[in-house]
Amino acid sequence: MPHPLEQLRDDALREIGDARDEQSLEAARVRYLGRNGSISAWGEQMKTLGQNEKPVVGKLLNEVRNAVTAALEQAAEKFRGAKETEALAKIDISLPGTPAERGSLHPLTQMLERGIQTFRRMGFALADGPDIETEWHCFDALNTPPDHPARNEQDTFYLPDGRLLRTHTSTVQIRAMQAAPPPIRVIAPGAAYRRDEVDATHSAQFHQIEGLYVDQNVSVADLKGTFEFFMRELFGGDTAVRFRPHYFPFTEPSFEIDVKSKALKGGEQWIEVCGCGMVHPAVFEEINKARGDDAYDPEKWSGFAFGAGMDRLAMILFDIPDLRLFAQNDLRFLKQFA
Ligand code: DAH
Repeated sequence: MPHPLEQLRDDALREIGDARDEQSLEAARVRYLGRNGSISAWGEQMKTLGQNEKPVVGKLLNEVRNAVTAALEQAAEKFRGAKETEALAKIDISLPGTPAERGSLHPLTQMLERGIQTFRRMGFALADGPDIETEWHCFDALNTPPDHPARNEQDTFYLPDGRLLRTHTSTVQIRAMQAAPPPIRVIAPGAAYRRDEVDATHSAQFHQIEGLYVDQNVSVADLKGTFEFFMRELFGGDTAVRFRPHYFPFTEPSFEIDVKSKALKGGEQWIEVCGCGMVHPAVFEEINKARGDDAYDPEKWSGFAFGAGMDRLAMILFDIPDLRLFAQNDLRFLKQFA
């Protein structure tokens, strides 16, 4: 005669096999394995069994419980599969899909990309540095002493730990020279920050492409040729470039560069776009000190550097009247440059 537990198991398996939907399956589970289910009740009954019977019935009980649990899972899986097939059958795969909306590059990004492409063609590599900088990288290493007005707290965003938001991308010149000996030819596109009253032409955050070329016998002529090529690639072959003498602590001589082009809104007027010059020997000396070698011997190496303001150029190129539009994330504005 089968043990009553075996009888229970056979009943359970039959019921599970007969279940036609998830509800009847759940009812079977509750009847046998639920808290008050008949297989569960055997667990309670175990306590009343004698020493000899206990291990035998215990083993059987486990087997029965496992067999019923497995059968329940298998049946549930079958129902789940059927449900999915049914759901899939309702999908008409011949219908056209919902097109995903395509974004587009921000006009400033487009401007930077165009600049980067041009310099890459001339053999410049990309260099990078953090927006949060040390004072040394931003000023001291660039021959800008502590009493220089650029270091005024009113002009710069300082962090409590003494670091600051870089006021120009020239910091990357320093990082590039620390990292590698000459010759070096890099550009560094990125954001810079200054305290400024925000209006249509001023922002506390702006964007520059920094350039640095150090080699033997680099001259102002190289700087001029390089920058002219850059501007003519962006704005066309008839773009005129003008160098005006200027002062920067980290270059000697220093210049500001103006451009004039029919492609630029405003047509025939000069627009100031860039600061530049020949790298000051004091900068090389400071780099040598930091590197602990003589890699940038100013007797042997010379270089040019520049920092071009890209927001202005983008405004003029794309005819954008207000600088604040760049940061407002207004799709009506952004979509015009898709
Ligand atoms: N860092 C300067 C600025 O933000 C621009 C500049 C001038 C960059 C001369 C240079 C340079 O690399 O050589 O106003």
